[in-house]
Amino acid sequence: MIFVTGGAGFIGSNFVLDWLRQSDEPVLNFDKLTYAGNLNNLNSLKGDARHLFVRGDICDREQVEALLKEHKPRAIVHFAAESHVDRSIHGPGEFINTNINGTFSLLEAARAYWSGLPEQEKTAFRFLHVSTDEVYGTLGPEDPPFSETTPYAPNSPYSASKAASDHLVRSYHHTYGFPTLTTNCSNNYGPYHFPEKLIPLMIANAQAGKPLPIYGDGQQIRDWLYVSDHCAAIRRVLQDGRLGETYNVGGWNEMANLDVVHVLCDILDSLKPKADGSSYRTQITYVKDRPGHDRRYAIDARKLERELGWKPAETFETGIRKTVAWYLENQEWVADVQSGAYSKWMETNYFNREVA
Ligand code: NAD
Ligand code: TYD
Repeated sequence: MIFVTGGAGFIGSNFVLDWLRQSDEPVLNFDKLTYAGNLNNLNSLKGDARHLFVRGDICDREQVEALLKEHKPRAIVHFAAESHVDRSIHGPGEFINTNINGTFSLLEAARAYWSGLPEQEKTAFRFLHVSTDEVYGTLGPEDPPFSETTPYAPNSPYSASKAASDHLVRSYHHTYGFPTLTTNCSNNYGPYHFPEKLIPLMIANAQAGKPLPIYGDGQQIRDWLYVSDHCAAIRRVLQDGRLGETYNVGGWNEMANLDVVHVLCDILDSLKPKADGSSYRTQITYVKDRPGHDRRYAIDARKLERELGWKPAETFETGIRKTVAWYLENQEWVADVQSGAYSKWMETNYFNREVA
């Protein structure tokens, strides 16, 4: 079996669902169920013996060690993290705790388990650390995209905490020969994306008749990748990635935020026209910029393509249409997420953000 951390979050749950669609190898899904973890994402696996969910914190080394001993996974795929830049600005503590201390604790538990494995299982074992392109910092308009050799220059507490975790993972390979793999991926989008992030927030606000808040001038560039393409890349790296290596994962799809929001409005205009005939674009509102906002991310994913033959299957056009359709069909999922602590967060992030 494989041991997945953070498998109730956005990418983790997509990964677990995709994994069990392609394979009968069981998954132990270990997740703390923070505000971002949602077992409803995994409803389709109810009664499926291949999926075992355990609630727990990666900082709890004893619990992790006991589970590893009991279930003997052949690999760990580590998604669990605090993942939202704006939240890291309002409260960095949890990011340090989970992303740095939690990854350290997980590495220690995993290393102890791996050290005790019989030789053959020890050789086959893998620890795959899921990370982000944000560790590389920000690019100017003419800079080449981030490659695996781009120096780390994180600019937010989120990206700094992920960078720290990447360094720890790297060090465990170099120091202990621990069999690690790291992926650094660009911005994902798709089903089960928590509506605090740009794309699902805009889809939800548009339908609710609320403002579509664009930070600053909206010309910040991100490289968007459909989530199932990220999951496929992780499966490839897990299977054939070279130990100790890092692989950049991206969609070759740079877009300015404002253009992304325009596309979303246009799709919604055609799928769910407003009663008054106006475009959703009229809801766009410019608000105060995010402090330290990275201007541009772009990923050079040629290493992954060259070595492991991975390429994204979706274009932005196909992926974003699927995504909007999913949100329109799953309003209950969104309403459920929004009913919890969500409203408090919306107040914290947007209430005192003066209109620019
Ligand atoms: P998410 O916030 O949607 O999910 C994180 C999950 O981790 C949640 O289910 C949460 O309950 C769980 N979790 C948090 N703290 C935990 C802890 N201490 N112990 C156990 N579980 C804990 O995040 P996501 O967007 O799915 O991102 C998953 C991973 O992918 C993260 O490591 C993130 O840095 C990385 N990543 C995300 C993106 C993106 O665009 N979302 C891009 C590249 C890399
Ligand atoms: P986000 O989805 O938070 O991802 P990240 O910050 O990790 O890239 O934001 C994507 C981009 O959209 C980022 O440049 C910030 C911007 N953004 C807005 O303009 N308005 C919003 O309300 C949000 C949440 C994000």
